[in-house]
Amino acid sequence: MNIPTELRTAHPDVYWLAEDDHAGLTNYLLDWQWLAANEAIHTVTKAGEGNMNCTLRVTTNERSFIVKQARPWVEKYPTIAAPWERALIEGGFYQLIAGAATLQQMMPRLLGSDAVSRINVFEDLGASDDLMRLYAGERKLELAQIETLAAYLTQLHRGFVRYEDKAAFANRAMRTLNHFHIFVFPLQPANGFDLDAITPGLQAAAQKLKDNAAYVARVTQLGELYLQDGDALLHGDFFPGSWLQAADGLKVIDPEFCFFGAAEFELGVMLAHLLMTGHSQVVIDRLWQSYQPASSNWQPALVEQFAGIEIMRRLIGVAQLPLRLGLAEKTVLLEHSVAIVMHDKENE
Ligand SMILES: Nc1ncnc2c1ncn2[C@@H]1O[C@H](COP(=O)(O)OP(=O)(O)OP(=O)(O)O)[C@@H](O)[C@H]1O
Ligand SMILES: [Mg+2]
Repeated sequence: MNIPTELRTAHPDVYWLAEDDHAGLTNYLLDWQWLAANEAIHTVTKAGEGNMNCTLRVTTNERSFIVKQARPWVEKYPTIAAPWERALIEGGFYQLIAGAATLQQMMPRLLGSDAVSRINVFEDLGASDDLMRLYAGERKLELAQIETLAAYLTQLHRGFVRYEDKAAFANRAMRTLNHFHIFVFPLQPANGFDLDAITPGLQAAAQKLKDNAAYVARVTQLGELYLQDGDALLHGDFFPGSWLQAADGLKVIDPEFCFFGAAEFELGVMLAHLLMTGHSQVVIDRLWQSYQPASSNWQPALVEQFAGIEIMRRLIGVAQLPLRLGLAEKTVLLEHSVAIVMHDKENE
């Protein structure tokens, strides 16, 4: 038996979401009173491009909504196990921010959560794509959009500093997974990941970073910081794949990697994606100007270092982006990664 079959059998109390199971889904949603008695499902389709979860758009005779199920595996690669409690953490995040008007206004409303089947039901923000198209290089974020995203982060990072039950959002398993893919795997000497199949010559470019012991040590050290608990509530995966262009403005989804940690990590990730998508210095400056850090010991140099690491892992790690860059451009970005990760070391 493969992993999903085994796990399905082991958890008979779970409703397993499936695009073609209209009858089962109707019963399931009626049981939870997420469907009105006079409502009928018309269509069930994939909500968009996602890897981790089963995320469907359900359209009825009345409306549409999103049903997202975390399974104990990665949806796109069912033989790879994934932390199952991520759905509970994601649901908890939405419950936590629901009282903060600016944040809720920028996220879909959570319509319901089922902790047994690890299903969350969300307001549908419309079938518009997420901003992954930024990687094609044809579009750029406008300054007003940068301000909107910076305002979201400001509010998120400052808003829950005194929240008492931070341990409920430790999200250890997801953080461990992310830590491995950001700080460890990409620089592992022989990780078996064929970079030349992505861009011929990329393997050799990556080797230079792997051979740079000071760089690897610094990345390892920053990885430890990522694993530490902090005061700021982070979204945890703040990049264009989590931003949606809805009819009434930019929205943020998918906080399944959220945790209380160092805000510099989150800003660094966003900065990395602005750099990789060719945004101008004016745009980047606007991010720095708009974002208001929560903590007085905020360290801008750390933001740059986390940005450098995010660039590196997106180019030579498994979580590849639809970037249209050749070897020369990727090499420049990797060199930039080394420069900004090592920056304050050289000045010491
Ligand atoms: N509330 C929503 N309204 C409209 N579209 C949505 C909504 N939630 C998700 N989508 C669409 O479904 C896609 C996948 O959703 P989401 O990112 O939450 O799933 P995921 O499995 O966690 O994805 P990933 O593997 O990228 O983390 C989104 O990129 C978006 O296109
Ligand atoms: Mg996700």
